[in-house]
Amino acid sequence: MDQRTFEKFRTLIYQRSGIALNEGKETLVAARLGKRMRLLGLSDYRVYYQYVLDHEDQGEVSLLLDAISTNFTSFFREPDHFDLLREQAQQWVAAGQQRLRVWSAACATGEEPYTMAIVLQEVCQGYECDLKILATDISVRALERAYAGVYDLERIEPIAPELRRRYLEEVRGEDGVLYRVRDELRSLVVFKRLNLSKPPLPLRGPLDIIFCRNVMIYFDNTVRQQLINEAYRLLKPGGYLVVGHSESLKGIAGSFRMVGPSVYVKES
Ligand SMILES: C[S@@+](CC[C@H](N)C(=O)[O-])C[C@H]1O[C@@H](n2cnc3c(N)ncnc32)[C@H](O)[C@@H]1O
Repeated sequence: MDQRTFEKFRTLIYQRSGIALNEGKETLVAARLGKRMRLLGLSDYRVYYQYVLDHEDQGEVSLLLDAISTNFTSFFREPDHFDLLREQAQQWVAAGQQRLRVWSAACATGEEPYTMAIVLQEVCQGYECDLKILATDISVRALERAYAGVYDLERIEPIAPELRRRYLEEVRGEDGVLYRVRDELRSLVVFKRLNLSKPPLPLRGPLDIIFCRNVMIYFDNTVRQQLINEAYRLLKPGGYLVVGHSESLKGIAGSFRMVGPSVYVKES
């Protein structure tokens, strides 16, 4: 890919998603776009750039972003964050709080919000809870898979057998046995397409906990700072912001107080 075409892709990707591609990433970007281009039968990057613009309304930008970023996720990924969710929710519920609102800000294919739903549903056993999990992502393809909530055996491995029995059901298809999130759990999760890089976000608080994990790595500090400010606005006083273990809010945490590795609280 020539320098000029790389710059055009770089600008487009930043404008549409906040994803900041560093200079010198031409080879990586070329390799990632190559796969999509082969599917379309295209071999010239300049032609693909024009194709993306011409097919923006048909979702090509979303597919371009899918090629650039990764949707990697898993059930109970970075498990200590789910311990925190459990412990906090237990405290709130035991103190008489009924309404619980949590947000999975880059939910990818759904494993993160469904894990949150399992953990919270377990906490709510025996209590009157009004529970909602908001799950958002920029990727249409990832959201479709999240909404379907169907996973193979390998993907559900991190879920304890007892919880699998309670929250998943077997479905038999052409590919053998798959596991579908039961309606009881799915109905707690609201999926929505949302671009985190375009504040103000069309969301209302107050939220108890936000998981914004493994997405800020793609952003520069300007976009990160705006997102942190939005998280601050949406959280209740005493609410938690959880980021990925490889991410840091150093220099941009603002009024958040760090209470553990990758865990921040909005001071009450
Ligand atoms: C690596 S996954 C993280 C999934 C999950 N949060 C986790 O930690 O397992 C990153 C996700 O961020 C999404 N993403 C990238 N840029 C985004 C943006 N500007 N707005 C919303 N989601 C975005 C991608 O589509 C992808 O699904």
